[in-house]
Amino acid sequence: MSAVLTNPLRVGLRQERIIPAQCIVIFGASGDLTQRKLIPALFELYRQRRLPSEFAVLGCARRPWSDEEFRSRMAEALGDEIAGHGHIWEGFAAGLFYEPADLANPVSIVALGERLEQIDRLRATRGNRTFYLSVSPAFYGSGTRALAAAGLLDDPDRTRVVIEKPFGTDYPSAQALNKVVQACAKEKQIFRIDHYLGKETVQNILVLRFANTIFEPIWNRNYISNVQITAAETVGVEERAGYYESSGALRDMVQNHLTQILALTAMEPPGRFDAEAIRNEKAKVLQAARLAHRSEPWKCCVRGQYGPGGSARSPIPGYREEPGVNANSTTETYVAMKLFIDNWRWQGVPFYVRTGKRLPKRLSEVVLTFREAPVHLFDAAGGAPTPNQLILRIQPDEGADIRFEVKAPGSGMRSRPVDMAFSYDESFGEPSDEGYVRLLADAMLGDPTLFTRSDEVEAAWRLYTPLLELIEDAPWQLPVQPYEARTWGPAAADVLLADDGLVWRRP
Ligand code: BG6
Repeated sequence: MSAVLTNPLRVGLRQERIIPAQCIVIFGASGDLTQRKLIPALFELYRQRRLPSEFAVLGCARRPWSDEEFRSRMAEALGDEIAGHGHIWEGFAAGLFYEPADLANPVSIVALGERLEQIDRLRATRGNRTFYLSVSPAFYGSGTRALAAAGLLDDPDRTRVVIEKPFGTDYPSAQALNKVVQACAKEKQIFRIDHYLGKETVQNILVLRFANTIFEPIWNRNYISNVQITAAETVGVEERAGYYESSGALRDMVQNHLTQILALTAMEPPGRFDAEAIRNEKAKVLQAARLAHRSEPWKCCVRGQYGPGGSARSPIPGYREEPGVNANSTTETYVAMKLFIDNWRWQGVPFYVRTGKRLPKRLSEVVLTFREAPVHLFDAAGGAPTPNQLILRIQPDEGADIRFEVKAPGSGMRSRPVDMAFSYDESFGEPSDEGYVRLLADAMLGDPTLFTRSDEVEAAWRLYTPLLELIEDAPWQLPVQPYEARTWGPAAADVLLADDGLVWRRP
């Protein structure tokens, strides 16, 4: 969480839209996401004075907590965030309520409706409701159905439902889930959340591309030779083996976060800046994307799993030794793959995508590498000039770099690569928000621009279907290859690029 309440620069720089009177109902209120992300994000909005006074949070879970107990647990979860802001916390906490409820039990959802009406009267929230499903994905369909059956989604202008990832586990299950939720609510009420789209730097891909004239003319196959998209994490599976064992990196990171970054990087300019225009272009580019070897997917994908690593003083357990992980698990904690986008802009340009846990650095970035100069006039450090690169630093150290050759000082005419760097921190002097701050605000405002539409989700799952089927039906063709914790993944991932005469960027 960013600790930022009163930075006047920050307030001044923003043109915030006003969130209307609102009750946000969080299912899964006793869970990790609520405590680590949702409540801190709502508190941050409150501190930024972006929540109206007619505001309430209703936490729902099976535990029989009282309002008071919920408040004190959320205060505990916020810890240092509220130290020194006691009075602000008190104002926020007055709007926190709790109701034991079970999405699997329609009767309890009907009772919830009554509690919501009480809250409407008490807090003047006027029937504006955002239902946030931070529950096991098994309940996304039935939970939305229970809300609809209780009449809680009847008003398409005042009610909406936010659905966490993963939205389905493959193409058919995503299609089926879309059918269920679309039978309960209008598409404009359904907010499929991908927290990467809440990151400033991910949104900045759009601004950088479409608010400048220097990039877009060269943003295509004539100038760009390849694109690398990386999301590296230092953490392991943490306490999430129960979920991760059946998900793996492909479903956990690639199908959603990395594919969204790919879509923003590769999409055509939208005709206007609105939700439908942007999502149309993202859906189109995903429909044109394909694995580099569709019928032999093992040739364009590498799966890895971290083994033990670290040092004698601070050893890191391997994935199979993590609590809750099967000792023979074949779940991947690393994926690298090569994709193509079959359209006029990108035909023939490889997009390499990789993500992994327990890598040496936490870092997400997009690297666009430009074609080499046709003639090398100068001696270059390393023999040949480094191709120009545009590096979009998603996190941490948010910003962008342009790498180009300059004359190295001295009497000769040797060239050397340098970086021209833009840093969010240096230019704006403020840390960027957690994605959830932005996305919760947008959901409450009913703005779906940064949420994933049904056709996008389906296109993303369809893209990876050949891989998912292979892992299911012939896993020996795409085995998980071990890599030592704190290294950059299995050697085969390097070979994937070496075969094309390339290397992964080592930041
Ligand atoms: C989540 C994944 O969606 O994103 C996690 O489930 C992953 O496995 C996390 O660690 C990464 O998010 P961020 O914002 O820390 O890059």
